[in-house]
Amino acid sequence: MLRVAQRVLLCALLGSVSASCPPRCECSEPAHTVKCVSRELRSVPTGIPGYTRNLFITGNQISRIGPESFKGLDNVTTLSLSNNRISEVESHTFAGLRSLRSLDLSNNQLAVIHPEAFTVHNQSLRELNLSRALYNHSSVMDLATSLRWSSLGSLRGLDLSDNSLIYLPSRIFSHLTSLRWLQLSNNSLVAIHNSTFLGLEHLEELDLTLNALRTVPEEGLRELDSLPGTALLLGENPYMCKCGIEPFALWLNRSQGRIRDAEALVCAFPVSMRNTSMLSVGTLTLGCNQRNAGADLALQTSYVFLGIVLGFVGLIFLFVLYLNRKGIKKRVYDMRDACREVWEGYHYRFEIDSGPRLSQVSTSADM
Ligand SMILES: *[C@@H]1O[C@H](CO)[C@@H](O)[C@H](O)[C@H]1NC(C)=O
Ligand SMILES: *[C@@H]1O[C@H](CO)[C@@H](O)[C@H](O)[C@H]1NC(C)=O
Ligand SMILES: *[C@@H]1O[C@H](CO)[C@@H](O)[C@H](O)[C@H]1NC(C)=O
Ligand SMILES: *[C@@H]1O[C@H](CO)[C@@H](O)[C@H](O)[C@H]1NC(C)=O
Ligand SMILES: *[C@@H]1O[C@H](CO)[C@@H](O)[C@H](O)[C@H]1NC(C)=O
Ligand SMILES: *[C@@H]1O[C@H](CO)[C@@H](O)[C@H](O)[C@H]1NC(C)=O
Ligand SMILES: *[C@@H]1O[C@H](CO)[C@@H](O)[C@H](O)[C@H]1NC(C)=O
Ligand SMILES: *[C@@H]1O[C@H](CO)[C@@H](O)[C@H](O)[C@H]1NC(C)=O
Repeated sequence: MLRVAQRVLLCALLGSVSASCPPRCECSEPAHTVKCVSRELRSVPTGIPGYTRNLFITGNQISRIGPESFKGLDNVTTLSLSNNRISEVESHTFAGLRSLRSLDLSNNQLAVIHPEAFTVHNQSLRELNLSRALYNHSSVMDLATSLRWSSLGSLRGLDLSDNSLIYLPSRIFSHLTSLRWLQLSNNSLVAIHNSTFLGLEHLEELDLTLNALRTVPEEGLRELDSLPGTALLLGENPYMCKCGIEPFALWLNRSQGRIRDAEALVCAFPVSMRNTSMLSVGTLTLGCNQRNAGADLALQTSYVFLGIVLGFVGLIFLFVLYLNRKGIKKRVYDMRDACREVWEGYHYRFEIDSGPRLSQVSTSADM
């Protein structure tokens, strides 16, 4: 009887232990960790124990998450949902995770992100990983809205790498006032516009490697200068080293101190300049100013030449006049006589013409 009772008790204990860990997950109470990795789960499992601090539900086939997915998990500080098929994040999905500090949604397919998707009631979120998380560039507008509305004033790090972003909406990060590092590498950014990085007063590191920057014109340089305390990474962009890139090259040379990969920046185009260090791309290398100077010189030369030719023609003219001086004198006299005749004829006709006109005026005055 006793042994049966013992067995029942043991089973009950085992049962309660196994019941406290959801099926297909591994739970470790001492480590406060629950892992449900690559188990073809289609939704967030229920029954995750309350002691959990680190929760990994990765490599599954979860497509939807919402506020009901994470209940009674006050102690979770680290949540990874990477490598799933999440396409939509509702507002307040993570609001119940009052201690959440790190959220990893990398490698998902977010097409719809609701305005308060990343709100955590306590504003406790410090790191958000959205690397390769957006379905395509069209999600960036949703993202901008939710970064604004999700009360992310305490966020320190944001990873937006590998997302095919083509541009960043103005002021997209303006509410992330505590952000320290921003990862934007491996996107397709072609330009940096006014107010892109507005509000990032505490940013310490900005990674723009592996984008599609061919140069950074004045507007972008001004924007980067608005982050004077930020270390920059700018490598692996298809820089086009032709005339017009000098302001950027000079800026690079001037800002070397805070560009971590300044030494490694090289031209990608034109082919003749490939692998040339961007720091050595001065006006001398490109020959832009020399070409202008050359053009000026050519212009000056042509003016001088024109002057000489005109002077020579003038001299010949004077010489011909001198040789013909007698004939010319005669012709001048002839011409003067002819002119006098014409002038007298004209004078005469004018007097005849003016007669009737005056009489006409007087007639109209009479009336
Ligand atoms: C969170 O952890 C604390 C202490 O580790 C524990 O007392 C509390 O019950 C836990 N919260 C939940 C919801 O289980
Ligand atoms: C708020 O977050 C801090 C950690 O940042 C945590 O210690 C605290 O318990 C949280 N407060 C509530 C009410 O959950
Ligand atoms: C974000 O997730 C990606 C892929 O899972 C990983 O490679 C990267 O290191 C993470 N970023 C940070 C800042 O931890
Ligand atoms: C993103 O995907 C949606 C849905 O497939 C599509 O309508 C939209 O045109 C795509 N946007 C881009 C920029 O490719
Ligand atoms: C860049 O991102 C794409 C997906 O957007 C990925 O396929 C590629 O491997 C990434 N490249 C690097 C060097 O990380
Ligand atoms: C960017 O700002 C400068 C002044 O700071 C302004 O002259 C310029 O027109 C702005 N460009 C755009 C595209 O708004
Ligand atoms: C540029 O440099 C890389 C590595 O430093 C090298 O593999 C490549 O062949 C070089 N290309 C040219 C055109 O010199
Ligand atoms: C870069 O700046 C230094 C001074 O800081 C200057 O001596 C050097 O000539 C500059 N190089 C180029 C290519 O402009």
